[in-house]
Amino acid sequence: MEDYKRLLLNNKAWVQEKLSLRPDYFERTAGEQKPTYLWIGCSDSRVPAEDITGTEPGELFVHRNIGNMVIHTDFNMLSVLQYAVQVLKVQHVIICGHYGCGGIRTAMTRKDLGLINKWLRHIKDVYRFHHTELDQIHDSEEKIKRLTELNVIEQAHRLTDTSFVQRAWKEERRPTIHGWIYDIHTGLLKNLVKIEPGDHPHDIYEFDFDGAQ
Ligand code: CO
Repeated sequence: MEDYKRLLLNNKAWVQEKLSLRPDYFERTAGEQKPTYLWIGCSDSRVPAEDITGTEPGELFVHRNIGNMVIHTDFNMLSVLQYAVQVLKVQHVIICGHYGCGGIRTAMTRKDLGLINKWLRHIKDVYRFHHTELDQIHDSEEKIKRLTELNVIEQAHRLTDTSFVQRAWKEERRPTIHGWIYDIHTGLLKNLVKIEPGDHPHDIYEFDFDGAQ
């Protein structure tokens, strides 16, 4: 059997399993979605958001890219964020990185990969912001792990720089921003940072919604 056909067969088995548990399983979620969480994770195939969090269809609104980045010229990420925060009114935004991330590892090298350079450059920036700490770590694997953690923390803060998040914080005291890391060796998630509504980003990123200049 060709590899891809296994996926279609799996799908039929999955439908049967869900229906055997609840005959209305799909009908219940087929209406409007009302997810509580926005998940921004890495595209890595070993970090399936729903599986590792035990969530069901309808619970997570998901965006994934290489390195779980929040880049403010990325209309894809920004559109997902705006929709999740303003329309779906999620209560939590989770940025999830993972150890063993190829994006982070490659950003630590001098390889020229063409277009991907442009994306990984933002990870190199995180290195530069934290070079004092990172340069003191001499074990290269430990250095990559720490950069992976610092990248999650940095991207969590980048979310709070957006007008969407700041406006929702001001008007509705949500969402809470979480920075997590997933260990591909143990399957465990770990909290790195939690940013509550009302926290202040650096002055230069803060918007004044009252119109004062
Ligand atoms: Co990754």
